[in-house]
Amino acid sequence: MKKAFIFDLDGVIVDTAKFHYLAWRNLAKGIDFDFTEEQNEQFKGVSRVRSLEILLDMAKYTATQEQKEVWLVQKNEEYLKYIQKMDESEILPDVPRVLDYLIENQQGIALGSASKNARPILERVSLLDKFQAIVDGNDVTAAKPDPEVFVKGAQALKTEAKDCIVFEDSIAGIQAANAAGMISIGIGDPTVLHEAFHVFTNFTELSNDFLQELIAS
Ligand code: G1P
Ligand code: MG
Repeated sequence: MKKAFIFDLDGVIVDTAKFHYLAWRNLAKGIDFDFTEEQNEQFKGVSRVRSLEILLDMAKYTATQEQKEVWLVQKNEEYLKYIQKMDESEILPDVPRVLDYLIENQQGIALGSASKNARPILERVSLLDKFQAIVDGNDVTAAKPDPEVFVKGAQALKTEAKDCIVFEDSIAGIQAANAAGMISIGIGDPTVLHEAFHVFTNFTELSNDFLQELIAS
């Protein structure tokens, strides 16, 4: 059996969700808004532009288009500073084991990320060559929970939606996978990701036997 396994990036493959949070929190501080980790859950999986809109809504702050553009550049510049210091140690536990198991079993592997920084990050952590297809924030017009990013991933791997399995750490991403008719697997807190078909705290809890069941199902 051949399935397509589509991985989100931030918070699933690499521990970059914390860097996004730090950069957004710093921006929020500039408008006297105390941005919490709980509020940050809503930013996970959504685009940069959408993240800023949500932040301004939360802070009840009205900004001009020009100001928004300045902030978007500023946020990304701060984020890129964290990224430049990244190395393979930022890969989340057991991600290489899962990728290698899927490769050994001739399964399709794609990236489905909202981030426009996906390729440089995969390069930095030396994982770029594990992916047969990459769909990121530069390829989509609709942000998660819209299924576009995963639909494009499935198309790139020439696989039907019912044969796709999506790994996600965000609520929006789980909703996107479900809307696409794919099997959603949450990586993170089960109470946050309760809409997923299965949830694992991290990949160390997801065994090769379970991967084999997904392949054979
Ligand atoms: C964007 C957003 C960020 C969001 C991330 C999800 O990344 O800025 O808030 O959490 O996608 O992957 P960017 O394109 O800025 O890397
Ligand atoms: Mg994510």
